[in-house]
Amino acid sequence: MVPDDLLQEMNRKARRASRHAYCPYSRFPVGAAVLTGEGKVFAGGNVENASYGLTICAERNAVFQAISHGASEIRAVLVYTPTANPTAPCGACRQVINEFGPDSDIICVCDGRKVIRRKLSSLLAAPFGPRNL
Ligand code: THU
Repeated sequence: MVPDDLLQEMNRKARRASRHAYCPYSRFPVGAAVLTGEGKVFAGGNVENASYGLTICAERNAVFQAISHGASEIRAVLVYTPTANPTAPCGACRQVINEFGPDSDIICVCDGRKVIRRKLSSLLAAPFGPRNL
């Protein structure tokens, strides 16, 4: 469980990151915030590219921000989309989150009232991770 004050911080930072998303092609801004093992919160938005396949999702951007700042463990990821319904992380992002936080809480919020709250392990069954190598 993520304490309420940290959830609020994640919410605030994910929403702010979505405002900095670079998404001229999809016009689908996403913001994500990651809670590290040390209780720090890092955020990122999706960054698209004219070569579409090079696009990076908000979740992976946020995870890489956290790791680049010295984190080694991820406890939770909050995803915000300015939509009526929440959006869960794509498969690639689930795999990347699994590397650092197989037991992560995933919280997806939007402009509507619905919230998706799941353990990563329920979104990514039979994961492939560091222990498989
Ligand atoms: N996107 C994310 O940032 N996170 C997701 O979980 C799903 C998709 C981005 C990628 C692309 O910039 C846009 O949303 C549309 O797919």
